Amino acid sequence: MTTSTPEQDLPGAELVPVDCTVNGRAVHLEVPPHRTLMDALRYQLGLTGTKTCCAEGECGACTVLVDGEAVNSCLMLAAEGEGHEILTIEGLGADEPDGMSDLQHAFLTAGAVQCGFCIPGQVMAAEHLLRTHDALDTLDEEAVREGLSGNLCRCAGYQRIVAAVLQTAESRRQP
Ligand code: FES
Ligand code: FES
Repeated sequence: MTTSTPEQDLPGAELVPVDCTVNGRAVHLEVPPHRTLMDALRYQLGLTGTKTCCAEGECGACTVLVDGEAVNSCLMLAAEGEGHEILTIEGLGADEPDGMSDLQHAFLTAGAVQCGFCIPGQVMAAEHLLRTHDALDTLDEEAVREGLSGNLCRCAGYQRIVAAVLQTAESRRQP
């Protein structure tokens, strides 16, 4: 595990000011230059829905959206967040009455959540896929599996995860 936690920060490291937007709110951070976005979200902003796992871009557990693009936040420095809009799992359904988006509901109703560890990353990657797929009408199982291929599930719940994404695509097609 190569995660850079605040406890492992180099003593005396000069802090870098970062102004960005996180889940729709303007945020100012002072970060060590080597701190990842993942750690800044978790340890400085308390947004622990973004998970730490491999910390080397292999599992997708730390996926967030940066300016609408799906990003492994363990591979991005917090300092690189300057001026960008970051969306985490906590912000995804924040405007909904129950705090959950249609996609999050679909994960629950499809039974896609087992231990739950990979789910925030899966949901954020799926949200990116749903938002960026050229024609939602053509989003099929193969496209979903390809779109989520960077997100691993140790519980191997892929079938239901794919079902949840397809169910959401179907509902978003409705006028
Ligand atoms: S923790 Fe970032 S890809 Fe695994
Ligand atoms: S639900 Fe357990 S790792 Fe995916």
